[in-house]
Amino acid sequence: MQIALSQKTYRALKWLMVLLIIKVTIVVLIGYRDYFPPNFESSFLLGRQNYFWGPYSRSFYTHLLSGPPTLILGLLLMSHRFRSKYPGWHRRLGKIQVGVILLLLVPSGLWMSWYAMTGWIAGLGLAASALAVAICTIAGWKAATEKRFQTHQLWMVRCYAILLSAIVIRVLGGLATVAEWSSPGVYQFSAWFSWIFPLICVELTRIVRVARAPAQSLEVAGAESELSAS
Ligand code: HEM
Repeated sequence: MQIALSQKTYRALKWLMVLLIIKVTIVVLIGYRDYFPPNFESSFLLGRQNYFWGPYSRSFYTHLLSGPPTLILGLLLMSHRFRSKYPGWHRRLGKIQVGVILLLLVPSGLWMSWYAMTGWIAGLGLAASALAVAICTIAGWKAATEKRFQTHQLWMVRCYAILLSAIVIRVLGGLATVAEWSSPGVYQFSAWFSWIFPLICVELTRIVRVARAPAQSLEVAGAESELSAS
């Protein structure tokens, strides 16, 4: 009974998260009204006019076009049901996701982090998240090509957790505005917290699962034996 209840809670939480991701992504897309064409009176573009045209604008628009698809594709790729029903599509969309992240999202995010609002502390946090997401994507992709699927899954969950920083940072920004706490310090904190917190959640969940079911451990060693068995 207890297991059924906790599964229900888990499912409800999962759907709440999916709805939150979709809602924030839609809000981000609505905000694009200020970017096509660029409105230098809008909060994000305010004061950026002197360096906007040139490499920054190329990174900016690349980022605008690549960010939202990675969140939505990620939802599909994380879905167990989608993966088991359409394994071919999982592979195809997975390759697109890897390409978009490594070739578009990470380079554009890295470039933009140099010009981050509030300065270098936030910029460093955003650049670190770009590198972290690149490392997870490469590790996950390599594991998939080597048919180490548990390891692949783990790295890709980490990758998506870091992508979710785009949601967390906006939720924190919204909360700070409502609470009238908006300040450079809050933004700098959010630039780090927004990706480290989801990663910690992933690792804690994994540790709890491994502790509860050692036989089904998600440890790398288990994943390696999966390869040798195949
Ligand atoms: C880990 C991956 C990501 C990194 C490293 C990253 C990095 C950045 C950086 C450095 C900025 C400029 C921030 C500033 O100047 O203060 C930015 C802005 C932006 N990012 Fe990302 N980003 C990532 C993922 C995403 C995703 C998944 C989306 C999808 C919604 C997204 C959408 C945007 C948008 C729309 C802006 C413009 C500002 C706004 O309208 O809020 N980013 N990003």
